[in-house]
Formats: sequence, C-alpha cells, structure tokens
Amino acid sequence: MKNYKTPRGTYDILPSEISDWQSVEGLIRDICQVYNYLEIRTPIFEDLEVYKRENDTSDMVNKEMYSFSVNNKDYLALRPEGTAGVIRSYVEHKMYASADLPAKLYYYGPMFRYERPQKGRQRQFYQFGVENIGVKSPLMDAETIALGYTIVKALGLSKVKVLINTLGDKESRDNYRNALKEYFKDDIGNLCQDCQNRYETNPLRILDCKIDQDQPIMKNVPAMQRYLTKESQAYFKEVLHSLDVLNIPYEIDDKLVRGLDYYSHTVFEVVSLAEESGSQATIFGGGRYDGLVEYFGGPSQSGVGFAMGIERLLILANAEKTLENNPDSVDIYVIGLGNVSTIPLEIATELRAAGYKTEFNVEPRSLKAQFKSVARFNAKIAIIIGEDEIAKKEVNIKNLTNKEQITCKFEDMLANIDIIYNEMESEHETHEH
Ligand code: HAM
Repeated sequence: MKNYKTPRGTYDILPSEISDWQSVEGLIRDICQVYNYLEIRTPIFEDLEVYKRENDTSDMVNKEMYSFSVNNKDYLALRPEGTAGVIRSYVEHKMYASADLPAKLYYYGPMFRYERPQKGRQRQFYQFGVENIGVKSPLMDAETIALGYTIVKALGLSKVKVLINTLGDKESRDNYRNALKEYFKDDIGNLCQDCQNRYETNPLRILDCKIDQDQPIMKNVPAMQRYLTKESQAYFKEVLHSLDVLNIPYEIDDKLVRGLDYYSHTVFEVVSLAEESGSQATIFGGGRYDGLVEYFGGPSQSGVGFAMGIERLLILANAEKTLENNPDSVDIYVIGLGNVSTIPLEIATELRAAGYKTEFNVEPRSLKAQFKSVARFNAKIAIIIGEDEIAKKEVNIKNLTNKEQITCKFEDMLANIDIIYNEMESEHETHEH
C-alpha cells in the first residue's frame, strides 16, 4: 500500500497546534486594527507576469516559483509573496485615486516557494504582510516598522534586533552599482557562480551572498552611504529619527540589500538572536518600493511594507513559551451515570447556547474514567447526572476549583452556573492583581 504523506516542504497544522496559530492570528488582527490597516485577500495564484517582471533577477522569481500552465494557454504561478498581488489589485481597483491615501492594507495566508526545506523554511508557508501605499514619507516607513515590531513584542519575543539600511533612489543605486562593478572587477572570478551572474544583473546582491560572505574581498566593500544623493540621505535620516522618537532600537547594516528586486530607499529586517531560529533568523523583512505601482499601470506612487513568516514566529514564541497552550480545555464537562439517554447532550446544548464551552460523556463509562476526562479537558465545572437525578429533575454542579458541590433543579442550573462561574472569574482576577 502506498504511504501517503504531505509533499516535501509542506505540513499539516494539526488540531493540537491550532490554538497557537489562532492566538497569533488574533493578535495580528487586533494590532492591525488599532493601526487602522484593512485586510485584503487576493488570489493564491496570479498570471505569471504579475511575479515574473521584466529584468527581475531575484531567486524567488527565477528559481523558486511554482509556475504552471493550464491547457497550454493560461500561464499562472502560485504566489511566492504578497506584495505583487496587492499592488496589482491596488491598480486594478484604482485605489490610488482615493482621497485618503495612504492605502493601508494587510494580508495573511499561504505563500509558495520551491526552496530547500529546513527548520523555519518551507515550500508552503504562511505570511502576514502589510503594504502602505500612495504616500512617500519617512513617517510611513517608521509606522510600518513599528507595526511589525509591536507584534513581535506583544508576542513576548525578547531576543530580536531591527536591522536597517537604505538603497537610496535610482540615481544613488546607479552610482553604487557602478562603484561595485569597479570594485569587484578583478576578483569576480573568485566569487561563486551566482555572484558572477549577479555581477552582470544586480551587483548589490553580491553583498548578501551567504557563500562568499567570508571572502577577503568582502571586507572592504565600499559602503552604500557614500553614493547616496542628498535627498536619499535626508530621507534615511528622517526614517531613523522617527524610529528614535518611537523608541525602536535599530542597527544600521550597510550590507542589507534584501533578496527581492523592487526596493528603493529604506530596507529592513527584524532578526531573532534566539538559538531556536537556527539559520532562518529573519522574522520579518521589507522596505520601500518606488516603481511597482507604476509598473502595474498606476500612477507614479510609492509604497512601503513588510512580510512576516508565521512559522518562524511560532518557533520563537514556543521557545519562549509566550503562548497559552491548552487547546483542549473546556469550561464545563457533563458526566452521565447509568441510563441517561439524551440528557447530557441536552444539557450540553443548553450550556453551549449560553456561551459555555462544554463537552459531555458519550458512551457509558465509569465515574472514574469520566473524571479522567474532566482532568484532561481541564474543566472548571462538572455537571453530574444519574438516573435518580433525572427522576427528580435535578442536577449536581461541582465547582472544580474549590470542590464544592450543589444540587439544584434543572430549570435553575444555568443561573447557578452563572453565579459559580462569575465567582471563579473574579477570584482569578484578584489573584492576578
Ligand atoms: P521576504 O523577505 O521574501 O519578503 O519574506 C518575508 C518573510 O517571509 C521572511 O522574513 C520570512 O519570515 C518569511 N519567509 C520567506 N520565505 C519563507 C519560507 N520558505 N519558509 C518560511 N518562511 C519564509 C517578502 O516576501 C516581501 N513581499 C516583503 C515586503 C512586503 N516588502 C515590501 N512589502
């Protein structure tokens, strides 16, 4: 028999893990809400050209994309990232014409890259991302970084570092590209094959090559800062000043260039220093892009954004134990003894309608076995009902925190549970304060 498994680089998120995902998702949505970002949902596949743009040299587009054709006519690709699709949508729906720019959009969902899988790197992975489009201001660069940083901090991650750099405007980059070509000209033969290609197509990418990073030639690479135009310098200074004002610590990393081609001005990555992140330490990364809106047929507007890898976030949150982990817990467990027929189901249904997360015993079992379930579900209250109680139209309610038990009529059950539950909650709160 064939052994069916998930394809390499993909995985199932099991029910036992889902509460971690949902709490991270909830936190992200809450923080986006206070920052006034609205969610956008674009298709998981797009026309191939949305990603494979003219002269794009990135690995993501050239080596890692899941592209395919259907009946030899529709050329499509699974999205390797969210930015291109969001900008395509921004232009298609003429959001650029809004009186209230910037458009502040966020997205959440699976992305696909044909990469070599390892811890924190999958072929299908989840990204949360934001795009702030239509206003070019250092304040928006800072707001975007602050939003991502707030999420990471709200999750309780302590060992994080913000790395930031600027690629300047087109003129600065052209100057720098020429300077790098000049600098590497005699040594290019000693660099890896990828860097030899990058030398021709995009020499900036040589700076973040993992293979060549320890080569002697990498030590004295001219710094980008020297090639920035006055305007680009001033822009970057403003971004840094805004981060200072917001008390966000950062480190300037003049080798940070990012793996995608569309950036100009600010680029940043927030990395984890925790051991658990292994070699995949970037939690989120992004930057400003000047040409994308125009590329997709819109006006000459700029945007800034980032994307965050949720698997990486969860690896770190679990390592620092910052997520509450009790997916199976219930408020109330209904124990049935003897021939109780449909009564536990009816009681559970009534309690669920009142908002209590409730489970009940299905097939007849001993009281001991049922109490094991009570413990496993970490229930706060148990309802105990047997044939005698049914005859008298009564139930037993046991407060599992202080072990007190009361007996009451069916019709008073809910009112009594409300009282017990509220007492528990207020006691819990006084303990916390
Ligand atoms: P990116 O740096 O390619 O940027 O990806 C952003 C984040 O997605 C990474 O920092 C990482 O956390 C996560 N990630 C990327 N690839 C994988 C993978 N194979 N497995 C697990 N996690 C992964 C972008 O995607 C840009 N669209 C960001 C952006 C938005 N720039 C401007 N706006």
